Amino acid sequence: MPAISFQSVSKHYASARGELKALDGVSLDIEEGEFFGLLGPNGAGKTTLISILAGLTRASAGRVAVHGHDVQADFAKARRQLGIVPQELVFDPFFNVREALRIQSGYFGVKNNDAWIDELLDSLGLADKAKANMRQLSGGMKRRVLVAQALVHKPPVIVLDEPTAGVDVELRQTLWQFIARLNRQGHTVLLTTHYLEEAEALCGRIAMLKTGRVVALERTSELLKAASSNVLRFKVDSHELPPEFAGKARITGRIVQLPAHDAHEIEQYLAVIRQAGLRVEDVEIRKADLEDVFLDVMSGKQVKEMAS
Ligand SMILES: Nc1ncnc2c1ncn2[C@@H]1O[C@H](COP(=O)(O)OP(=O)(O)O)[C@@H](O)[C@H]1O
Ligand SMILES: [Mg+2]
Repeated sequence: MPAISFQSVSKHYASARGELKALDGVSLDIEEGEFFGLLGPNGAGKTTLISILAGLTRASAGRVAVHGHDVQADFAKARRQLGIVPQELVFDPFFNVREALRIQSGYFGVKNNDAWIDELLDSLGLADKAKANMRQLSGGMKRRVLVAQALVHKPPVIVLDEPTAGVDVELRQTLWQFIARLNRQGHTVLLTTHYLEEAEALCGRIAMLKTGRVVALERTSELLKAASSNVLRFKVDSHELPPEFAGKARITGRIVQLPAHDAHEIEQYLAVIRQAGLRVEDVEIRKADLEDVFLDVMSGKQVKEMAS
């Protein structure tokens, strides 16, 4: 039985321009023990899918189950299996950190939870903040408390919706070490993130969502293998690139990256650069990474062997 099963899930919202299909027939099974990544640009429907899973939003059609428990018909049992870290920072300003965690434990009917609460505080670098009021915490610290809150009842399935958006490097590392440890201990993890290096490093399998539809669903290693090319990467001294590169190059500041299928194509690029009189440095050729694959999939390019 899958840890999470989405079956033909749709969600429609009424909008000024008629009906908005936030989700359009999403089917996806996540097996027990997987570290699963759900990727997609803003507005793809990731948070909508997670709020349906959490029982906070009702699907317009389809079924969602957690360890076989339907999230609507069997809400309490399904919810008990889930630890959900929401995208938005929501918290109750009147309590300190330990109180907030005790209240959350009570909500799940877990008594005498202080040993586990202490372990959570320790593992998330919150030990010295136990008595701090929620109001006094920085955004990053609040994010840690949200993670701890989601885990107070030791849920077998952990769901994180953009947990590292706007979060410093230290917290990211603390968080991933801890979540990876829980995953090794058998917890299922469902993660959405904009940081594709994180997804590439952590997730065994990935689904990509685009305007409410699953457009890729593969093992991460297969996705990387299916990438159509290597990448030529270099730094350039000008912001004006030759028109030949338009629509092809991925540009970050002065760094330009171009898909390179073979040596001939690389030679052509370098010739164009020379003719344009550009000065380039730090030239390298690397394997395509998950971001390249993501951009390919989102632009609707056929990625090799992935049409299944
Ligand atoms: N409560 C709502 N009412 C109307 N439209 C919504 C609502 N929630 C989300 N949407 C729309 O549904 C789409 C998917 O949003 P969301 O699930 O938040 O995407 P993501 O998390 O992938 O960025 C977006 O177009 C968004 O504007
Ligand atoms: Mg979202």
